Parts: sequence; C-alpha cells; structure tokens
Amino acid sequence: MSFPQAILKLFKSRHKPITVGLTAEAKANPPKHVAVIMDGNGRWAKKRGLPRSSGHYAGAENLHELCKWCIEYSIDYVTVFAFSTENWQRPQKEIDSLMNLFIEFFTRYERELEAEGVRLRFCGETQELPLAVQDTMKKAEASSIKRSNLQLIIAFNYGGRREIVRAVGKLLQEYRANEIKPDNLVEADLSAHMYLPDVPDPDLIIRPSGELRLSNFLLWQSAYSEFWFSNVLWPDFNKGDFTDAINDYASRQRRYGGLKEAE
Ligand code: IPE
Ligand code: IPE
Ligand code: MG
Repeated sequence: MSFPQAILKLFKSRHKPITVGLTAEAKANPPKHVAVIMDGNGRWAKKRGLPRSSGHYAGAENLHELCKWCIEYSIDYVTVFAFSTENWQRPQKEIDSLMNLFIEFFTRYERELEAEGVRLRFCGETQELPLAVQDTMKKAEASSIKRSNLQLIIAFNYGGRREIVRAVGKLLQEYRANEIKPDNLVEADLSAHMYLPDVPDPDLIIRPSGELRLSNFLLWQSAYSEFWFSNVLWPDFNKGDFTDAINDYASRQRRYGGLKEAE
C-alpha cells in the first residue's frame, strides 16, 4: 500500500486554511527547535475502521505539513519521534509497515523536500535497522546536506535512555585512553556524545493524542524544554493547532532556575 488516495482525502478533511496566525510576540521570538512526538496514528485509524497502517500513512503526510509550517514560522530545527526503541514490541506486521513507510516517505516527498530546502538528519540506534532503511537514511542525509531552510531530524529506533547509555560508554572509552579524568567531568562532556551534539536542545516539545508523558524521548535534551500537550491525534493535528502551540510558547517566561528580569 502506498499513500492511498482515500486516506489522503480523509486526512485533508481537517487540514483547511486557517485564519489565526502568529502573534507579534511569536513572530519576534519563535522557538529555534521544536520536537514532536507523533502519537495517535493507531487511534486515528481505528476511529475510522481502518488498519493501523493507514493511520501511519496519514501521520507521515502530516509530517510533511509540519515541515512547511516550521519553515513559514522561521523554526530552524524540528525533531520528530517516529519509532522508539520500545516500538519493537509491536506486532511484526506493524513494524514491517512502519519500516516500509519510512522508505516510501522519501520516495514520495523527495522532490518537495528538496524544493523546500529541508535538510534530513536521523538519530537513534540506526545500525540495528533493516539495511534498506539505513540505505535510505544515508542517501537522504548525503543528498540534503547543503540545504538550509530547516533541519528535519527523524528519531527512528530512538530511546532517550539508550542515547545516554551510549554517551556514557563513549566517555568510558575516553577514560580508558586517558583522555578524560572522572573528577573533571562536566555536563558538556556528556552532551558532546549525544547523537547530534551540534543541534541545540528543543525549546518546545509537542505531544498530541492526549498522553501526558515523554515515552523515553530526548531525556537529556529536554531538561529545560517547554511542553505542549494536545488531545488531538497526530494525523489531525493541523496548522491551527501548531500555531496555538507556538503562540503559547512565545507567551511563556523561561527562567532556567533564575528570576525574571528586573526582580
Ligand atoms: C505513533 O502512533 C506512531 C508510532 C509509535 C510508531 P501510535 O501507533 O502509537 O498510535 P496510537 O497511540 O496507538 O494511537
Ligand atoms: C511514542 O509513542 C513513540 C512514538 C511516537 C514514535 P508510543 O505510542 O510508543 O508511546 P506509549 O507506548 O503510549 O508511551
Ligand atoms: Mg501511541
């Protein structure tokens, strides 16, 4: 099954032009990095009597919409959670369809992503993925490296705890090679060994679908992220919902443990 028209039609029913826009505050202070837990695809499909895979197709369609919104709103990085290290517990049929969808996504959107100037990057235990998926990742990364409108980072076979354990392993190797001393360790030493150390921490993490948890997403990087939860299922999460999240983010005061100015 490849992006069936009937599903795209269903998907489009909630994605209409919106009248609300960014506030002046949000235009002046957009988040640099937004992260999204793309959750609720299965429930979206179930509500319509469709197989879960249809929900994943609709979710992938929405990922491309998300890229367009981010570019319009001058957001530099968007990280999306597409497959967790825990998602291997799902039925093999669903796993297979998610792996195939990953590859199909790039075939379907390659041209648009190029025209839109989207650079592709990936994080997770990618070496454990099927070779065809790894191949798609390498090609997408290499062919988009010079694009600069938006970095789309897809967390695929990603787990926050795995990322931290991997970073600790790398520090231990450096210790064995006498390159570091345990007493002098600072946070930046661990940050330097995350999958994508050059990417700034997410300013805003969005989780649709009504679940109020991180599910092992960006544990290290989310220390001072702002959160936005929504009951809308990911395939239905539209530009209006996204705009609400960005406007709300811009109205917040981030203190990082300090005090607001002039107090
Ligand atoms: C998110 O949607 C996509 C993945 C986890 C791969 P779900 O498949 O978790 O959808 P729900 O939560 O069951 O509705
Ligand atoms: C989180 O969703 C992972 C992704 C969206 C890829 P899950 O559906 O796997 O999370 P839980 O199981 O509800 O916590
Ligand atoms: Mg889920």
